[in-house]
Amino acid sequence: MSAEMTATRPEIKTDFAITALSALMAAEVTGLDLAMPLDAAVQRQIHAAFLEHRLLVFRGQNLTKEEQVAFTEQFGTLERHTTRNRGTANLPLVHIVSNLDEDGKPMGRVRSDMWHTDKSFRPAPSMATILHAVTLPPEGGDTVFVDMHAAYDGLDAATKDEIVDLRVVHSWELSRENEGRVLSAEELADAPDNAHPLARVHPETGRTAIFVGMHASHIEGKPFDAGRALVLRLEEHATQPRYQYRHSWRPGDLLMWDNRCLLHRAEANFDAATYPRILHRTCIRGTPTSP
Ligand code: OGA
Ligand code: MN
Repeated sequence: MSAEMTATRPEIKTDFAITALSALMAAEVTGLDLAMPLDAAVQRQIHAAFLEHRLLVFRGQNLTKEEQVAFTEQFGTLERHTTRNRGTANLPLVHIVSNLDEDGKPMGRVRSDMWHTDKSFRPAPSMATILHAVTLPPEGGDTVFVDMHAAYDGLDAATKDEIVDLRVVHSWELSRENEGRVLSAEELADAPDNAHPLARVHPETGRTAIFVGMHASHIEGKPFDAGRALVLRLEEHATQPRYQYRHSWRPGDLLMWDNRCLLHRAEANFDAATYPRILHRTCIRGTPTSP
């Protein structure tokens, strides 16, 4: 290749492969180095694959936090978490997800082990989450996903009719309470409850998903207990094994998933009192739900 050709064709890789990992969701992307900017055509292909497969597993990555931020920004606007800074002072938008206590020792449990979709209590819930493995236990420490489109499709007609116009209140306050923590007034003011369609239409694909998970509290305009019972019944239906996909982490994995149609949770299927499990998380802001 001549020097001129090299100059006009920078070292952007385009010979990558996208391979489906299951019939339900998830595809593996190999042959891309996400530390480099993606060219516009590759970005479009990744976005299309993201909409089709909902969970992308990029193999063999080794991104610094700054590189993860730069990768994330190619697909949208980075989003902060809640008033608690889960990042570092200089990079608050890269959340450190770990099973370590304040002294840096494995504390025997993992966080985020209940079914949820990230920041569904916001008026514009997260569009995507990007989670990059930093330190993994020797085995286990999986992340499990649920396909909320398939779960919606699997409802009987009467239930679809019942939920079509309902709005579900998502509450950070309630979900922290269920984890044994009372929010401060400042935290509450920062993350008030928000209602969303229970049968949520995906803004980019038009498919309908059941929009519940651990932040989902009750149904607007229904007595609390009756609404709560419906929310829990839908979650029980959705989280049946037939709608689940399990990701077993490999070193170098970076996951990018669609929070608008998947639930997820961490699974403590490893000795969480002995082995550290550390990942870096960035989130992309979504759009307000409609109507
Ligand atoms: C999260 C989360 C899952 C995991 O950080 O939002 O849900 O497997 N993590 O750690
Ligand atoms: Mn999460």
